[in-house]
Amino acid sequence: MIILCLLLLLSHAAESLYMGTTLDDCYAVARSFNNTCTQAPKAPAPWTSTFKSITQSCPDTRTFQLKSCQIVVMLCVSCSQNATTGQVRMRVQTNGLPRGHCYGGQCPAQRKIDFEVDFNKNVSMEKAITFRSNNQFDDKACSNMSLKVVPTWTNLKVYEDGHQMDDIAGIAINGGIIKAPIVKYMMDPYFPTFTLGRNFTQSPTFDTCLGFVDEQSTYGYIMLSPCISNSSMIAQNRSCGKDPFCSQDIKNHSLYFQNRQERVLGIAKDGHIIQSPFFYEGSFIRCTNLDQCGGYFMEQQTYVYTWSNIFPYSMTCFGPGSQPSVYTARCSENTCSGRYLMEVGLILMALLQFIILI
Ligand SMILES: *[C@@H]1O[C@H](CO)[C@@H](O)[C@H](O)[C@H]1NC(C)=O
Ligand SMILES: *[C@@H]1O[C@H](CO)[C@@H](O)[C@H](O)[C@H]1NC(C)=O
Ligand SMILES: *[C@@H]1O[C@H](CO)[C@@H](O)[C@H](O)[C@H]1NC(C)=O
Ligand SMILES: *[C@@H]1O[C@H](CO)[C@@H](O)[C@H](O)[C@H]1NC(C)=O
Ligand SMILES: *[C@@H]1O[C@H](CO)[C@@H](O)[C@H](O)[C@H]1NC(C)=O
Ligand SMILES: *[C@@H]1O[C@H](CO)[C@@H](O)[C@H](O)[C@H]1NC(C)=O
Ligand SMILES: *[C@@H]1O[C@H](CO)[C@@H](O)[C@H](O)[C@H]1NC(C)=O
Ligand SMILES: *[C@@H]1O[C@H](CO)[C@@H](O)[C@H](O)[C@H]1NC(C)=O
Repeated sequence: MIILCLLLLLSHAAESLYMGTTLDDCYAVARSFNNTCTQAPKAPAPWTSTFKSITQSCPDTRTFQLKSCQIVVMLCVSCSQNATTGQVRMRVQTNGLPRGHCYGGQCPAQRKIDFEVDFNKNVSMEKAITFRSNNQFDDKACSNMSLKVVPTWTNLKVYEDGHQMDDIAGIAINGGIIKAPIVKYMMDPYFPTFTLGRNFTQSPTFDTCLGFVDEQSTYGYIMLSPCISNSSMIAQNRSCGKDPFCSQDIKNHSLYFQNRQERVLGIAKDGHIIQSPFFYEGSFIRCTNLDQCGGYFMEQQTYVYTWSNIFPYSMTCFGPGSQPSVYTARCSENTCSGRYLMEVGLILMALLQFIILI
């Protein structure tokens, strides 16, 4: 058993897709985005007519009038290097409308996002976040302000053209917004619990891409979107509730259409990469592999988040977290604490066996 454990640990460490901090590394990540602009990845696009857009026609299924909306998509992810400091920075510009798929519901409005941040900065455990109790963790994880404050060492700059980003975790490779896990109701919107005594009266209506249109009429995802890999297999012009496969098992729907590969799915507001929930060899990244913020170290100092079908879906805090996921959020039924404790038990048992053997 211990050999099996060691083998698993080693295979994960040895084969991960390493992403460094150089300008070329940044270009490679910027090219993962389905940019509409011609300037990417070497330069940002000015918010003028020279910012090339593409137009998608989608039905407005909410009105039943078969009215269609023209969705104008603008996405430009670029990199630069500061001549004095050598720091590589990534600029992310999107109008918040994802490229390559439609929506189930009303036509969403544009939401201009424009920020620049130190790219994939090396982090050390000195900056790690520690939670002292489950209550303290709940206060963070179950709040819609959890991702409001970005650490200053990321040198995040929000351009004036962009709107506020308090509710945003990051931007997906199709330009869509990855929202913070808690939107408004202080509950996991897919799997609410009632243990905190909060009155959860309304959940947003998710479409089959698992995105939703918020009160500002802008579009965003929380759970990993099945439309990020290959949207052609998904009937996009309806809500999840009206799709048998989606409504029956939303978590399976989220994962089923993914390419089971370790790859870039987006960029977080703090400049760290958001990965697919798979290791290099295709196995699913589980809570046990993640720290309390929802990220993990790919290499010594390379810290990444995963986008998955388990709360917090993207991240609870800007990591690293100093602890593995020991605390679970009481505002979600979709965590995997039980499994963590079970596996710790198994490892302890294996260690004991090992000790007894020698
Ligand atoms: C380069 O970095 C320095 C120090 O952070 C800053 O003052 C300067 O504005 C930066 N240059 C550019 C072109 O961003
Ligand atoms: C980019 O989006 C277009 C649709 O607008 C799609 O046809 C194409 O496959 C996408 N490219 C990548 C690399 O995802
Ligand atoms: C980040 O860490 C890696 C490995 O420790 C190192 O090779 C690289 O030069 C570091 N980058 C910066 C910008 O310090
Ligand atoms: C959090 O929720 C409160 C109450 O619903 C709301 O006023 C506030 O705007 C929300 N904040 C964010 C960042 O969504
Ligand atoms: C929950 O909130 C709704 C609307 O705000 C209200 O109508 C309902 O009575 C509340 N339920 C409880 C149990 O407090
Ligand atoms: C997407 O799915 C369709 C239907 O199964 C398939 O023909 C196509 O090759 C897939 N595209 C990618 C990029 O995986
Ligand atoms: C919705 O999508 C289905 C297949 O994905 C298609 O058959 C149908 O015509 C679409 N409806 C509208 C109103 O576009
Ligand atoms: C997900 O759905 C597919 C297709 O129906 C099924 O084969 C698979 O067993 C399901 N996976 C889980 C974990 O339920």
